[in-house]
Order: sequence, then C-alpha cells, then structure tokens
Amino acid sequence: MYDKLNFTIKENPVILGIESSCDETAAAVIRGRKLLSSVIISSAEEQAKYGGVVPEIASRAHTDAVDEAVIRAVKEAGVSFKELDAVAVTYGAGLLGALLVGLSFAKSLAYSLNIPLIGVNHIRGHLAAAYLCDGELKPPYVTLLASGGHTAILHTKTYTRFEVLGSTCDDAAGEAFDKVARILGLPYPGGPNVQRLAENGNANIQLPQALVKNSDRMQFSYSGLKTAVMNYCHNAGQRGEKINPADVAASFQVSALEPLVRKTVECAKKLGADTVTAGGGVAANGYLRARLFEECKKANLKLILPEKKYCTDNAAMIAAEGLIQYREGNFASLDLNACAQIPLNNI
Ligand code: KG4
Ligand code: ZN
Repeated sequence: MYDKLNFTIKENPVILGIESSCDETAAAVIRGRKLLSSVIISSAEEQAKYGGVVPEIASRAHTDAVDEAVIRAVKEAGVSFKELDAVAVTYGAGLLGALLVGLSFAKSLAYSLNIPLIGVNHIRGHLAAAYLCDGELKPPYVTLLASGGHTAILHTKTYTRFEVLGSTCDDAAGEAFDKVARILGLPYPGGPNVQRLAENGNANIQLPQALVKNSDRMQFSYSGLKTAVMNYCHNAGQRGEKINPADVAASFQVSALEPLVRKTVECAKKLGADTVTAGGGVAANGYLRARLFEECKKANLKLILPEKKYCTDNAAMIAAEGLIQYREGNFASLDLNACAQIPLNNI
C-alpha cells in the first residue's frame, strides 16, 4: 500500500523533477542542492508554426518525450532509478492536458519505486531555481519574479513563505513581450526574439513606463505600454512612414524592464536586505540581467541570477522546490490532480 505518511526524510535526498506545464518536457535530478542533470525537450519549433502554444500539440509532444527526458536525466545524473528518494512534479499552473502527462508519469514512478510524490507549484519552482545557483543562499531576500503569467517583487521571508511587495495590475511582463513580438511580426517565442531585435536598435522612442504612478501600492502595468507600441506602429503606418522595428523593440524593452530593476533594488534597500534573486522566463533577458547586475552592484547588493536556461521552464527548478517541500514532509497522495491556475501564494 502506498502511504504518503510512511516515508522517512533524508538529509540530502536524490530528487527527480518533472516539468510539463507548457511546451517544454523537462526532467532533472538533484542531490541535496547540487544539480546532477537537466534535460529539456522543447516543442517550441513545432508550436512556432501556429504562432503560439497549441495545447493538444503540447500534450502529444509531452507524451512522446516524457520517458526519454526522464531516462536521460537519471542516466546523466549517474544514479539508478532505485537511488531516487522522491519525485517532484509540476501539478499547476499550466495547460491541463500537458500537466497531466508529467503528473501521471510521476505518480506511476513514485508508486512503483515506493518513494514520496511531491506536487510543485510551477511559479514556486521559478523562485527556487536560485537555490541551485548558489548553495549558500538562504532567506530572507528580495526576489524579482517575471514570467509569462506573473510579474511581482517578493520579500522571501523563509523557504516557504513570502510577501508580495508589488505586482502587475494587468498583463505580465512576458505576456507583453509576446504581444509586442506579434505587433512587430516576430515569430513565437516572442520574448527572445524581441530581445534579439532590440540589440540592434536605439531606445529613442518615447513610451510609457510599465509602472502605475500615484498608487499607494507598488503596481506595474503592461497593457498601456503595449497599446502605446501598437499606436506608434499604427500611426506611422497611416502616415505612410516607415518605422524602425529595432528601435521600437529597444524602446519597449527599456520601458518594460527599467521599472522592475529600479523597484527591486529600492525594495531591497528599504527592507535592509543584502541579497536579490530573480526568476521566470523574463529573467533570461540580457538587458534585464545586465541592468540588475549594474544596479545591485551600485547598491552593494548580492545578486543571485540563475543561468538563462534555469530562468525559462526547466525541471531543475521543480526538483529544487521539491527539495523544500521534501524537507517540510509535504508529500502528495496518488490522487493529486492537475490545476490550471494556482494563486501565487499557494504552495
Ligand atoms: O517562465 P516562463 O518560461 O514560463 C512561464 O511560466 O510563464 O516564461 C515565459 C515568458 C514568455 O512570455 C517569454 O516571451 C518570456 O518569458 N521570455 C523572455 C525572454 N525569454 C523568455 N522575455 C524577454 N526576454 C527574453 N530573453
Ligand atoms: Zn515558467
């Protein structure tokens, strides 16, 4: 009988992480906070043909790739399946059909090996990526979270608890990158393509900053910025003027990212924190990374920035959050279901 209350907790467990919430089928193995392997099989190229992620195509791609990803991750880690102490898997948020592929695989594995199953909130995974990047990192610190669905600055107080200091009141930063990519006629995935284009442009177009002024709470806003980009391109078209797409991309990038950098550093100073971390797909952006580095250095703050491949979706971060939940003894039953949406504060 599989019983989630029957497991003992080891000091430095070997944890397999599985991620399948969107278009990346990923598996990774950690031992304690040491990353042993990370495999990512992406269906982005296939999705690009349709201009975005088609859920059914994502689910089928996960079904094709999940066993290969897991087998490779275990092999490259130099461990055997019998040495695994737990399986951590993303149970939400994400595309339901896609999540169910990873979740069903993880459940079967946990059952057959009789090891704990750990359900991981994908966004908590993004936050935990920083722990693999610096083995010494421990709360409290300030975190910038910027992904396709979330944009927030957090005060990470303990391994499991954080306070949201400010967040977006409309679109997420990644979503804005994707929408601006579409306006500029760039293919999926939008964010990296906007960045690439911006590298050849000058930020010389006046656009609104992605920050709500005169608000009691710190709030970001991306819908006005996106509309301003759309109007700029539309109005130029109506006048028969040519736009320079690289300048639009560069100007957008500055307006979208500068408020995040400034507010993250301001929050850290105000709270007397000495460390800043960042996570989520947008944290892979070269401009954001360079500016965070500069401003944290000026403010004498330690910056823990996971490598780009651990900012975008991966399973190493799921294993890292799995370790936190493992140490809490927070194990799931085999009836754990997938969740399309999970509030930021839920585990
Ligand atoms: O964290 P992530 O991989 O998936 C979510 O959990 O949402 O983030 C995906 C988002 C997308 O909107 C993508 O356009 C954006 O992150 N992104 C970037 C870059 N790489 C990915 N945005 C700006 N610059 C990048 N280099
Ligand atoms: Zn993600």
